[in-house]
Amino acid sequence: MAAQEDKLKAVISHAKEYGFVFPSSEIYDGLSAAYDYGQLGVELKNNIKNYWWTAMTRMHQNIVGIDASIFMHPTTWKASGHVDAFNDPLIDNKDSKKRYRADVLLEDYMAKSEAKITKEIEKAKNRFGDAFDEEQFRATNPNVLRAQEKIDAVKTRMKVALEESDLEGLKQLIEDCEIADPETGSRNWTDVRQFNLMFKTELGAVSGDAGIIYLRPETAQGIFVNFLNVQKTGRMKLPFGIAQIGKAFRNEIIARQFIFRMREFEQMEMQYFVKPGTEMEWYNYWKNERIKWHNALGLGEGNYKFHDHLKLAHYANAACDIEFNFPMGFKELEGIHSRTDFDLKKHEEFSGKKLRYFDPETNESFVPYVIETSIGLDRMFLAVLSSSFVEEKLEDGSERTVLRIPAALAPVKVAVLPLVKKDGLPEKAKEIVDLLKLDFNLQYDDKDAIGRRYRRQDAIGTPICVTVDNETLEDNCVTIRHRDSMQQERIPIADLHEAVRKVVALNKYF
Ligand code: GAP
Repeated sequence: MAAQEDKLKAVISHAKEYGFVFPSSEIYDGLSAAYDYGQLGVELKNNIKNYWWTAMTRMHQNIVGIDASIFMHPTTWKASGHVDAFNDPLIDNKDSKKRYRADVLLEDYMAKSEAKITKEIEKAKNRFGDAFDEEQFRATNPNVLRAQEKIDAVKTRMKVALEESDLEGLKQLIEDCEIADPETGSRNWTDVRQFNLMFKTELGAVSGDAGIIYLRPETAQGIFVNFLNVQKTGRMKLPFGIAQIGKAFRNEIIARQFIFRMREFEQMEMQYFVKPGTEMEWYNYWKNERIKWHNALGLGEGNYKFHDHLKLAHYANAACDIEFNFPMGFKELEGIHSRTDFDLKKHEEFSGKKLRYFDPETNESFVPYVIETSIGLDRMFLAVLSSSFVEEKLEDGSERTVLRIPAALAPVKVAVLPLVKKDGLPEKAKEIVDLLKLDFNLQYDDKDAIGRRYRRQDAIGTPICVTVDNETLEDNCVTIRHRDSMQQERIPIADLHEAVRKVVALNKYF
């Protein structure tokens, strides 16, 4: 646990030191859980967006994109159920005055038992070596069985309480588990209450309830209300999808763990409209497509797992998360939901307008079902940053910090480095900059010894360094150095553009 916290701290401080992520309005001591993306952060973020957008809209001829406004007619949120049901169960500690999500307190409690099990297994693995049979150990070891029973019992009670919105039951469970305030150890809890997560604001000069509008808590509704606009103007046939990237806002009770849970964040969502009755087939199709998209990046297949939802959202008939092994452990990165026809039907009901698809083959019109894939861009950013952050000991005994960011996502693709700042080398290097700058984000650096410059580029994840030396002036060749292997090769300048393209091209992920 301590090692994990240390890793997160190291990632946060590295992100700040190198211009990836800054605390928001830092000169005023920052604003809790709000962050600004710096000069390298914005590049990484744009590259992630581009990878997602390309996968959705270019690789699927039947998916198109939109960019809907953040403000929507307030009835949208009545129809979608967010005004009435987008709540978290919160509980306050009377002594510390700290506020928590009741379900998160219980999940953390179960995670502790899970950690005990993992520890027992690790111990036994070390003791028995190759002869160790984990399945048998889990089924027979009394400590593991006890911990697992505890987890199962809490899980079952929590599921029932959440499904039935039984707030008293949730509080009773917290008391029965003797859960204390994680910061102070106090068990003096208030009752559990529902807390709506939408931010409200007022529209222009309109006062009172009539002027209240919300900051969208998900981008999906912008897609639903435009379903027919896109279908008709794009002459789309089922199944087809609409993709969108944009900001979403939630007044999270506890926003924490860096950019993992914020009150203002960005989502990349895609709604896939299908014929009713085929939704499970498409749900499985999208589970498979999305995990393929993640795995292609090479961050480690063992770092992902599917987690089926215990409590289905008010709109879903099947739902799962893709969890990622963040420095804080496995947590939700992406959600895949079978949303039925809930949203379109509700918008029909509340707007009085038909939102139906006319099938020219059967001459029928009906409300399509929807499969949604929804990934948090900031969480994806954290997944990439944290898993690519490595502190390495090299063969010569020295150390380096390197971001092994998948090359196509790297904020800077190439560094152009004249070996010395004289003899015409900077001029030659600038010619190379001109040759590459339109197609690749690059940095020119002529300060300090070459070794230090390599380290600086390693620390920001630049896949390729190009060194210009005196020989370059004679043979028109440069040395390129690869970030991960640190291997160097000499190539003609004429081949440089293609050599860089090969390393950083997105196409190897598809
Ligand atoms: N339209 C469905 C939807 O919004 P969700 O599971 O509530 O579903 C989707 O959110 C994704 O948005 C999550 O998997 C997560 O990656 C991201 N997300 C949700 N709340 C967030 C927050 N407070 N901060 C950062 N990302 C968040």
